[in-house]
Amino acid sequence: MAIIKVQKGTKDILPAEMPVWHFMEDKAREIFTQYGAREIRTPIFEATELFARGVGDTTDIVNKEMYTFEKSERSLTLRPENTAGVVRSFIENGMHRLSAPVKLWYKGPMFRYERPQAGRQRQFHQVGVEVFGIKQPTADAEVILMAVNYLKALGLNDLSVELNSLGCPECREEFKAKLKSVIKPYLSELCPDCQSRFEKNPLRLLDCKVEECKEIYAKPEIQAVIQSDFICEDCANHFNELKSYLDALKINYSINKLLVRGLDYYNRTVFEIKSNNLGSQNAVCGGGRYDSLVRNLGGEDTPAVGFAMGMERLASLIGNKEVEKTKAFVVSNNILEAVKLTEELRSSGITCEFDLTNKKFVKQLEKASKVAKFALILGEDEIKANQVTVKNLDTSEQKTVSREDVKSLIV
Ligand code: HAM
Repeated sequence: MAIIKVQKGTKDILPAEMPVWHFMEDKAREIFTQYGAREIRTPIFEATELFARGVGDTTDIVNKEMYTFEKSERSLTLRPENTAGVVRSFIENGMHRLSAPVKLWYKGPMFRYERPQAGRQRQFHQVGVEVFGIKQPTADAEVILMAVNYLKALGLNDLSVELNSLGCPECREEFKAKLKSVIKPYLSELCPDCQSRFEKNPLRLLDCKVEECKEIYAKPEIQAVIQSDFICEDCANHFNELKSYLDALKINYSINKLLVRGLDYYNRTVFEIKSNNLGSQNAVCGGGRYDSLVRNLGGEDTPAVGFAMGMERLASLIGNKEVEKTKAFVVSNNILEAVKLTEELRSSGITCEFDLTNKKFVKQLEKASKVAKFALILGEDEIKANQVTVKNLDTSEQKTVSREDVKSLIV
């Protein structure tokens, strides 16, 4: 019979990979808790409208990449990202009444119908942070600091922070108009995506990866607009203050005026953290400020800023971590005594196994040396004397001790 295979763009995370995943999850809990963030878990599917209104119906995510299905005449979508879901929960649970800032962190699977390639999957995992209620750039700086320190805690240092300001809706409108006017003469030469972005979402033109489009956008008159300081005074003050905090905190960053991000909810600060050791999908972290999203989704006016990181990309940078061996393996042909000793150790927190099939003593010892650090030998003599022979399987040293002393030898 034909075997059923895992779906394109999805992956099993196998036991051998788990140490890295546990490491990423444990560090997230540890680091984000240090900053006062609390974990939130929202459902994996939400009303389709949440993403259409939240992420934006001109984005690739909403237009091309959503897993949408109908149930009981309702349109539902597997979450392509988690900011919209967290905002929905923030509003629904009246979290604006909590004292600001409200700092939330999350981890979990996301779903985007993208063309799979190295570093890009259809089901992937994100770990992320959202901070609500602070309009000052101190919150932007703290969010970037959380991201950088989390990455440091994972042992990842060869990364660069890219920063940009998209301004506010007012100053951005002016910029969009200028951009369109210089690009218009080349409209027919642009790729089909850019032609449709030109009207719907001109900022995303800057993000295009098609060589012909990139050449056009490199033209001096277009670069002059892109590189201009278009943001208004308030937005510029916000950005300058943020940069001065980052300087004071000794966080290295570079300004990338082409950084516009693929989601519609951002205003002012946007940032990405990139690795030099990944291929074309080199962004490990993306984030920014989204001061209108809570209001646009029906909540009270609440400024917010956050980020999310792709955990598969982090895992591939971290590399392998050894699966920890079982601490002890009980070797005995007396199955009842073996299970008793095993349970005794397990109940004091020591990982322990015994042979469920009661194989020959030598076979059990062979198995123990493959899977465990210590063999606990329980022969008839040991059982009579209420003792155990503890064999260190790395050094082959062994010692016969009373049952009470076994635990102290297993380290
Ligand atoms: P995003 O840039 O779409 O932002 O995704 C954040 C990160 O998720 C990316 O930098 C990348 O590491 C990872 N990622 C995205 N798509 C895939 C994929 N198909 N396969 C593997 N990894 C992927 C957001 O999702 C925003 N919600 C971030 C945010 C939070 N902004 C404010 N708060």
